[in-house]
Amino acid sequence: MIWTILLLFNGILFFYFMSNRTRSKREPPLDKGVIPWLGHALDFGKDAAKFLTRMKLKHGDIFTVRVAGRYVTVLLDPHSYDSVLQDTTSLDFTRYAQVLMDRIFNLRLPNHKPDSEKAIMKRHFHGESLSCLNHNMQNHLQTLLMFETTATQNQTDWKHDGLFGFCYSLLFRAGYLTLFGGEQNNNCTDAAKVYKEYQKFDSLLIKMARTTLKSGEKQTAGSVKQRLWELLAQAGQRENSSLWLHSYRQHLEQEGADEETQRKAMLLQLWATQGNVGPAAFWLLAFLLTHPEAMRAVRKEFNSITLSGTTTLDPQKHTPVFNSALEETLRLTAAPFITREVLQNKTLHMADGQEYDLRRGDRVCLFPFISPQMDPEIHHKPELFKYDRFLNADGTAKEDFFKSGRRLKYYTMPWGAGTNACVGKPFAVQSIRQFVFLVLSHLNIELSDSEAQVPAVDASRYGFGMVQPIKELPIRYKLRERSNLQ
Ligand code: HEM
Repeated sequence: MIWTILLLFNGILFFYFMSNRTRSKREPPLDKGVIPWLGHALDFGKDAAKFLTRMKLKHGDIFTVRVAGRYVTVLLDPHSYDSVLQDTTSLDFTRYAQVLMDRIFNLRLPNHKPDSEKAIMKRHFHGESLSCLNHNMQNHLQTLLMFETTATQNQTDWKHDGLFGFCYSLLFRAGYLTLFGGEQNNNCTDAAKVYKEYQKFDSLLIKMARTTLKSGEKQTAGSVKQRLWELLAQAGQRENSSLWLHSYRQHLEQEGADEETQRKAMLLQLWATQGNVGPAAFWLLAFLLTHPEAMRAVRKEFNSITLSGTTTLDPQKHTPVFNSALEETLRLTAAPFITREVLQNKTLHMADGQEYDLRRGDRVCLFPFISPQMDPEIHHKPELFKYDRFLNADGTAKEDFFKSGRRLKYYTMPWGAGTNACVGKPFAVQSIRQFVFLVLSHLNIELSDSEAQVPAVDASRYGFGMVQPIKELPIRYKLRERSNLQ
């Protein structure tokens, strides 16, 4: 009894202390919100982009907000981002990542060594190994696309679909076959089953991360994860899994992870490798289909680098127009939070000479979506899709962007930056390039309603990588009689 009372008393004291925090002179502006403990959690969760834009207008480029008992310092000046990204002593990437791993994947790795895992991934997603992965991915994409367009109906009939489901499903299944292996006959049942379950998992992912699942949803999430763990049980052990997954699984074994933990880690890797590529390809095709000038420019470029007599993209050839269209797409739709935990009190030096103290135990969050990506001072009319925004007049890649009269190091940041930047970027870019090339060269594809617009974003997903559309974009497609890009 006495222990219960003591614990309760401690809890109340802690709660009081947390709620009563005041700003010291050297700290960023503090905005606790009106609801005790919860602070701004509801607004933050509903639409982080809108909420943080409002806070930026109120407080400027740096401020601290209370979100469900935690204090988060948000930094929105891209000139100052390096003071966070370069500091791996006082600021830590892994702790918050581990919190999410536990919440979303029920995963606690014994002897977790993020650096070794990253080294394994770097080895397999660069150089010669990357060429091999790209080659396999290309083959799977081609097989699946052909099967999709020819299996169920007459080749000359239009097939109706939603563009998001079309892109996500094809890229997910091809990526799964390339990295995780599984049955590789024409209809690839394994990959389709995993995709079906993964969709359910993905629809609950944000609520899992925020621990806001309702009780019915908790049950669904539990059983979907269980099914995915079972479906992934053999990944990294079967012969046709990628060398990367074999090495990763071996590494887990050496670190003492039991069979169940290994399966959970497979789901984590499935999400890390497949969760963003499909949505990115969707947005790119959606913009191309709604911007004829951009579509013509990308087709023209692809045409000029197709290996003669084939419908194969020459992997060595540069595609600055495509790259710019992709960069522009990601500028508008990649919205990750870059979050670090403050391990020890630290002074943050802003580019304008200001200094702010950060408290141990708080979190620091960059949200490059607001700045640089949607910052009107950096990108003229940032809400518009301009496929050539990242091209110079001479057709080379444009890298000169300015804010406050100074050239920016970070003018768009879809892949993160610094030591924890995306390891899979070259694989992701090549997968999307191959996919768009295949779709444009093999299919007649058009919007079902020629007046349709790119759908709005599901605002609750801001902060979790690629955003997703609030609704489908209906399309129709059929195989071209002769594959070409005209
Ligand atoms: C369009 C597709 C993708 C986007 C937009 C994307 C974006 C990102 C971002 C923003 C981060 C940094 C997170 C942070 O600093 O907090 C990241 C990290 C990472 N990404 Fe990607 N990613 C994509 C595809 C991929 C793919 C295909 C792979 C693997 C094949 C991959 C593997 C990783 C890994 C392993 C990390 C963690 C790096 C570390 O621990 O330091 N990503 N990604």
